Amino acid sequence: MSAADHWNDHYQQGKGFRPVTETEVALLAKRLGPGTGHRALDLGCGTGEYTAALHRLGFATTGVDFSEVAVNTAQDRHHDRDGLDFRLLDTDRGGLTLLPAGEFDLITCRLFLPFVDLVPTVACTRRLLTPGGRLLVTTPLAERQRAGRESIGLRPAALDLLRSFGWATTAEYPLDSLLCLLLTTHPAPERTSR
Ligand SMILES: C[S@@+](CC[C@H](N)C(=O)[O-])C[C@H]1O[C@@H](n2cnc3c(N)ncnc32)[C@H](O)[C@@H]1O
Repeated sequence: MSAADHWNDHYQQGKGFRPVTETEVALLAKRLGPGTGHRALDLGCGTGEYTAALHRLGFATTGVDFSEVAVNTAQDRHHDRDGLDFRLLDTDRGGLTLLPAGEFDLITCRLFLPFVDLVPTVACTRRLLTPGGRLLVTTPLAERQRAGRESIGLRPAALDLLRSFGWATTAEYPLDSLLCLLLTTHPAPERTSR
């Protein structure tokens, strides 16, 4: 069974993941500010509830996932909203390289990074972000998972790697048992006039 089929099975059974709570939306609103006029990309969007929450904050948002069942469900549930779309894309198979560089002000990874190749994925997000753009990672921590379930969270070494990508700023916020990392790229250099 392919990795995508594993997730397809999960969604086919009508299962989801941790719901997007009011607390999480409040954290997004407080830390991201209004999204109006900004573009967001939600990696591993699943059935699109988090993608839709970003859209409600004003971001024009694209959700991508390699599970066909998830993307179809997301399109069915959220199809009639302008500035919200979903695409089938495998981030571990070059999918992100098909998107235009410098296109997104915000990229989100909610319950996603533990399942993919961390370094190439984060390197791709750097290429896709605008100068001053932000990467928001919301993740379980491996050490807080029960035995046998550690792989759904990031380990301390992975978190350190994530922080070491040369960000202009890094900030971290707890969200119940999860950790949110907000990582900002450097702004464009100011032009000097003569
Ligand atoms: C734990 S779920 C989280 C879904 C959603 N972000 C949420 O918070 O409900 C992880 C998602 O990542 C997707 N995924 C895993 N590997 C992927 C890959 N290589 N490319 C694109 N999506 C992937 C899965 O299909 C699944 O929908």
